[in-house]
Amino acid sequence: MIPLMTPAERIYCAIDTTDLDHAVKLATALHGTIGGIKLGLEFFMACGTAGYKSIADLGMPIFLDLKFHDIPNTVAGAIRAVMPLAPRIITIHSQGGPDMMQRAANTAREEAAKLSVQRPWVVGVSVLTSLDSDDLSAIGVQDTVEDQVARLAGLAQANGLDGMVCSPKEISLARKVAGPDFKLVVPGIRPAGSALGDQKRVMTPDEAIKAGADILVIGRPITGASDPAAAARAIADSIE
Ligand code: C5P
Repeated sequence: MIPLMTPAERIYCAIDTTDLDHAVKLATALHGTIGGIKLGLEFFMACGTAGYKSIADLGMPIFLDLKFHDIPNTVAGAIRAVMPLAPRIITIHSQGGPDMMQRAANTAREEAAKLSVQRPWVVGVSVLTSLDSDDLSAIGVQDTVEDQVARLAGLAQANGLDGMVCSPKEISLARKVAGPDFKLVVPGIRPAGSALGDQKRVMTPDEAIKAGADILVIGRPITGASDPAAAARAIADSIE
């Protein structure tokens, strides 16, 4: 039987910085308090695979959030290129379409088997939380954000992805479309009373888990705290 994840294991801390020393210090402090570290474009463009390894060598699972979006062949090549890093979760854009999603899922499976590393979850970004219905309309999508998210959740599942990234507001909708095994990776999480920053549609960690989130992506409420490990522990404790 697959062991259930503890609240702490569901938390991935987003370390968004170009400063490798700072990232290593933060990840070292957080070791043992949360499920893993999310490294995104800002970190990876500055610190590359060497920087990635400095964090991964600390022993925590890594969510490599590079949001691949290109023709299927190029996305497959990018996935092959990062598989030796053995990330636990990787992201692609669902708007890349069915073929791209299938190639991404198949490539991750084949390459993981070839390298004898754990197969990562391949997760599709749905509609970026920075976009609203007017932005979708400007690029020719006449549906509401909710309808587009529901469509992409169904497509992602039908084309072999393990789950999707969605805002807290879309958790129940995505769950309804894609069922209980589809992994929902959710940023826009704010503990009660903490600063919103640029996040608009937020939920508390406990609300998001109750709504059906699998993984909570939390950055500044942890990285900006004077004691990041204590902040992470308090967040885990706030989840019933
Ligand atoms: O600091 P904060 O908790 O807002 O960090 C959230 C993380 O999740 C950041 O790395 C951000 O880029 C990412 N993210 C997001 N909204 C999305 C996708 C990713 O906030 N739709």
